Amino acid sequence: MAATALTSGLSVSHSRLMQRLEELGAVGSTGDGGCCRLALTDADRAGRDLVVTWMRDLGLDVDIDAIGNITGTWKVGSGAPVMTGSHIDTVRTGGLYDGNLGVVAGLEVIETLMTNGLVPPRPLAVTAFTNEEGARFQPDMLGSLVYVGGLDLEAALDTIAIDGPRLGDELSRIGYQGSTPVPASAPHAFVELHIEQGPVLEQSKVRIGAVTGVQGISWQEVTIHGQSNHAGTTPMALRHDPAYVSAEITVLLRNLADELGGHQVCTVGKIDVFPNLINVVPARVTMTLDVRNTDEQILQTAERRISDTLDELSRAEGVTIERRTLARFKPVVFCDDVIDIVEHVAGNLGTSSMRIPSGAGHDAQMLARTCPTAMIFTPSVKGISHNPAEFTAPDDLVLGANVLLHTMWELAHRDSFDFTPGSGI
Ligand code: GLV
Ligand code: MN
Ligand code: MN
Repeated sequence: MAATALTSGLSVSHSRLMQRLEELGAVGSTGDGGCCRLALTDADRAGRDLVVTWMRDLGLDVDIDAIGNITGTWKVGSGAPVMTGSHIDTVRTGGLYDGNLGVVAGLEVIETLMTNGLVPPRPLAVTAFTNEEGARFQPDMLGSLVYVGGLDLEAALDTIAIDGPRLGDELSRIGYQGSTPVPASAPHAFVELHIEQGPVLEQSKVRIGAVTGVQGISWQEVTIHGQSNHAGTTPMALRHDPAYVSAEITVLLRNLADELGGHQVCTVGKIDVFPNLINVVPARVTMTLDVRNTDEQILQTAERRISDTLDELSRAEGVTIERRTLARFKPVVFCDDVIDIVEHVAGNLGTSSMRIPSGAGHDAQMLARTCPTAMIFTPSVKGISHNPAEFTAPDDLVLGANVLLHTMWELAHRDSFDFTPGSGI
């Protein structure tokens, strides 16, 4: 590795990285330090326009594919590109760094090499993937999933948003349905820089995470249909109350996570009650269940336990319960060769690193199906994310971008990896 290593002093521009993050964060600003750029909204379009402008200003070849993924490629050398990237869509109460860091840092890597006259032996590409968050359209990581052939383009375009529109219609409305076919051919390797979004690095006083993989994700929507009735006149024994059942399900998820322990996490993040009035026993409740584990077997156990309890609740309360899978991804293991390079690079830059699994979903977990892949994490202050208070110290952001810079350079010089497509899933 040493033969091709860049001088360890080579650094991305601190001020340019921060300025671009701020500029992108101002698009869809929520006025409280946060950002709302739900996928394929007008704000997402404005963010995309900014990223495309930066790519064109750098002289990159800009390509938009049929699911709206935006790729800027520095077409040098030969062979498949070393790719980086992430997403710029956010949750409704997003911060400035989730996803954005990976895209902005990718541009920074290329610009730093260009301005220093350093040309890699193969192309470098940076991609902003469509709808990573899955907040407006499910599943999450949809753009990268289609990119690697894990979801049919037509099925993806037919996805319906939580606010009604069809994904394909929104994509063309904002002018980002490109003509480049998907699935795409596999990059030489993929590495994504992201904030950790959890507390582990900060608590461990370690500045770089060499990410070993991503935990499995199970998302479902549950709709409970009961008997709507008068809140004052309906005896408790005669109720078929979806609100009560939804509360039982919420408690079930917490208890299940406590009982299974380890990496098991369970969340009820969205509850819609109809008609949502003080004096009406509701007719129905629709809620989402987000259940994750690094262990596929335990994740399946959790899913079975939830399903069985839903059956019991349905019988006991006399309600009907509909279930719809919104996303289901098995745990992913990243490529050891790429993880090793991240660790080596961190060491060469004189910084501490630790191996760490990801609790959040990422585009890298989809790319891992087709090419050698890993991720780089930087610490999140207090582990807060999906929140306007999300924060990573500027020096840590820059350090992460530098680890990305040196890692991409190493990957570009490495001819082969111990990797079989699909092996990490
Ligand atoms: C994406 O941010 C996720 O929900 O993990
Ligand atoms: Mn993200
Ligand atoms: Mn996110």
